[in-house]
Amino acid sequence: MNQRNKKKLVVLSGAGMSAESGIRTFRDHDGLWEGFSIDEVATHEAWERNPMLVNQFYNQRRQQLLHVEPNAGHHALVDLESHFDVTIVTQNVDDLHERAGSSNVLHLHGELRKVRSTKLPTYIIDWDKPLTLEDKCPEGGMLRPHIVWFGEEVTMMDRAVRIVEDADVVLIVGTSMVVYPAAGLIQFASRASMVYYVDKNPATIHGPIGNRTKILSGPAGSLLPSLVAQLINQA
Ligand code: OAD
Repeated sequence: MNQRNKKKLVVLSGAGMSAESGIRTFRDHDGLWEGFSIDEVATHEAWERNPMLVNQFYNQRRQQLLHVEPNAGHHALVDLESHFDVTIVTQNVDDLHERAGSSNVLHLHGELRKVRSTKLPTYIIDWDKPLTLEDKCPEGGMLRPHIVWFGEEVTMMDRAVRIVEDADVVLIVGTSMVVYPAAGLIQFASRASMVYYVDKNPATIHGPIGNRTKILSGPAGSLLPSLVAQLINQA
């Protein structure tokens, strides 16, 4: 199928997408925020107060990421590309969509396998080892995790809004939809679009969008392959 004839499909993914790969979600029972305080590891103030602790938290996440693999859900989304013009807008900081083979991924909340300079905002580099306080950019600025912390601006938001507005199909996967502005993206879906929400324990989507959203309740790794096959059949 010619790229220009393809319908536009956006996937809005959250932590549940990677749960079956072995990455803990944030707010489920035994989720990351049960064991760690957001105020201690995921705000700019936390970094100012105790950068070593913040680095330690993200170093652990980064090391774990090197030992997990994409699951059947990530792989199924790649198959969509043969019939749809697909963009993945993810809240996840892992790289499992890319490793599965998805070609168009926008990370709203940053990327674990990158760090950036506190002095030169555009200095962003790949990083797979533990980050220490001694690691600096060429200008001598400290390096920090390339993560959008609570209270920081989500710079990708405008792009994400346009992608959702233009989409013919919106597929929400594995998010509790409590963290804004990401959770508000769905409200930009066009009235003509088809909206699906795959989640083990789906949240309530308020407003008219909620009324026309098709909800599939269960694990993404099991449900996405059949949903993808169905969407491809209808394309
Ligand atoms: P949450 O932990 O808030 O929500 C995870 C969602 O995944 C819940 O709705 C679960 O029901 C669902 N879930 C769990 N296992 C699943 C599975 N196998 N298949 C399908 N669904 C499953 O994670 P997010 O909504 O992604 O931000 O959290 C949003 C943001 O809050 C994150 O990006 C992170 C966090 O704090 C930052 O750190 C900036």
